[in-house]
Amino acid sequence: MIRMGYMEKSAVIFDLDGVIVSTDEYHYEAWKEISEQEDIPFNREINEKLRGVSRMESLDIILSNSTKSYSETEKLLLAERKNERYRELLNHLSAKDILPGVRELILNLKGREIKIAIGSSSKNTPFILEKIGLASSFDAIADGNAIKNSKPDPEVFLLAAERLGVRPEECIVMEDAEAGIEAAIAAGMKAVGIGAASNCPNAHIGVEDLTKLNIEQLLER
Ligand code: G6P
Ligand code: MG
Repeated sequence: MIRMGYMEKSAVIFDLDGVIVSTDEYHYEAWKEISEQEDIPFNREINEKLRGVSRMESLDIILSNSTKSYSETEKLLLAERKNERYRELLNHLSAKDILPGVRELILNLKGREIKIAIGSSSKNTPFILEKIGLASSFDAIADGNAIKNSKPDPEVFLLAAERLGVRPEECIVMEDAEAGIEAAIAAGMKAVGIGAASNCPNAHIGVEDLTKLNIEQLLER
């Protein structure tokens, strides 16, 4: 297939939470319950700082507002409790929770033979993809189970590129988290800021949601 003017070969890496599916409220609910049980202040502003950040690092951010100090064992138990509650809430998840423009973009990219991957910090990635019916839609998956360093470290996106068999500079990342935009840039990739990250100064472009993305224009640049 001749794709005049397009990047030589391109691939798109999607973050999961907040880009493919709206799990944000469930994360918020589960962390709020844990914070209340532990009597730690927690609100939407603190929650925003947890976007794209791993479970244990999210917990550290929450505990930084506590007067008590927690041992490593206590922290692991808290993170486990949060995840149990989060997984309970995820049971409500279905294809209805796929965010606007996602299906259309996936079909569009597949039609152009552009490879697609998931690059997510979440260890629940396989469970979530299964719940929303997209488990076999991606050519590669790099998630929280396969990495040591979470975003803003580029590891997850570099792994996704490796698993797709493409060079980092051929990849375009879709992200809703500032930490994810930083990770994409550090990986040498193009970054599209979506929703919460649409005004991120380091993103190549920003859009409110994927229905607003002009993919042709992006691929030609
Ligand atoms: C995503 C979310 C974060 C979450 C992280 C780990 O990046 O945006 O809010 O903390 O995944 O999720 P997990 O499902 O492994 O607890
Ligand atoms: Mg996200």
